[in-house]
Amino acid sequence: MKIVVLAGGISTERDVSLCSGRNIYEALKGNGHDVVLVDLFLGLPEEKEPLDHLFTDDRDWSASVGTIAEDAPDIAHVKALRPNYRSLLGPNVLKLCELSDMVFLALHGENGEDGKIQALFDLMGIRYTGTGHTSSALCMDKNITKQMFRGRNVPTPPGITVQKGKPFRLPESVGYPCMVKTCCGGSSVGVYRVNDASELEKALDEAFTFEDQAIIERCIIGREFSIAVIEGEALPIIEIAPISGFYDYKNKYQPGSTIETCPAKLPEETAVRMQRHAEAACASVGIEGYARVDFMLDDRTGEDYALEVNTLPGMTPTSLMPQEAQAIGYSFPQLCEWILNVSMK
Ligand code: DAL
Ligand code: MG
Repeated sequence: MKIVVLAGGISTERDVSLCSGRNIYEALKGNGHDVVLVDLFLGLPEEKEPLDHLFTDDRDWSASVGTIAEDAPDIAHVKALRPNYRSLLGPNVLKLCELSDMVFLALHGENGEDGKIQALFDLMGIRYTGTGHTSSALCMDKNITKQMFRGRNVPTPPGITVQKGKPFRLPESVGYPCMVKTCCGGSSVGVYRVNDASELEKALDEAFTFEDQAIIERCIIGREFSIAVIEGEALPIIEIAPISGFYDYKNKYQPGSTIETCPAKLPEETAVRMQRHAEAACASVGIEGYARVDFMLDDRTGEDYALEVNTLPGMTPTSLMPQEAQAIGYSFPQLCEWILNVSMK
């Protein structure tokens, strides 16, 4: 199959995406496909028509792909990239996507996971991996996602949406400690734990450096889990236990900073209930193909709460969905093949 792996872009998860993209590129090449890896921000070098030869070219496309920053990416770094582009998806890259049998989306966050590229590809008849544009757009906004969950009786922590510069009152149902999150962020960039009222303003100020909207959500004290859903069915649950703090950017991507257990050690009844909630969460937003739902399990009440749906879950060496697939015997290259097959339907 001729496959274009799209990665990079200019979201705050650019580095993560490049790492997912390289991993996918290497797996698909190993599976015998003709693959081109493209950094959406850099585009393609000036190419004379036809572009088709790129699929069989032996150049080392992965050479331009960096590693994930030690700590959360500096927003200034991402913002500095933005004035340098006029069209993120230039004509050469689009042409190459049209020539492919499938575009494997390794993009995360804004401009890749938010439905825009999916809508464009639908209009152009280009096949791509992952869910469609409407569900992508819904899941990009954590506030809308939570409303969709409630419509299908999927428990989610109480929360409110606040706008930069607008007054608000924190409802008692949220209280302290709480979590402040950017509405549309990913990889925990712009996510802060707030222990009491004195810390709230600073956390919101920080969140508003990324976006003009944030959510304030009750902090569920307990264990953290994630569940990928493929073709409507949940994979085994993975438990995520950071050695210190919460599952923030550093704990997500620095090997050894988080203990991950899959299948998670949970009573059968709890595990099955969470898996059904993950499937219902995906159904509530109309997921096609695959996605991954993040959960908290309240230590005190034993209730589970869905936090969000990730429509293009990370595929880096420390990412969660590949570990869940491994638990049922799928290697990373086999998972990539599975995603391709699901996306051909
Ligand atoms: N947003 C990151 C890539 C994830 O959910 O895995
Ligand atoms: Mg996310």
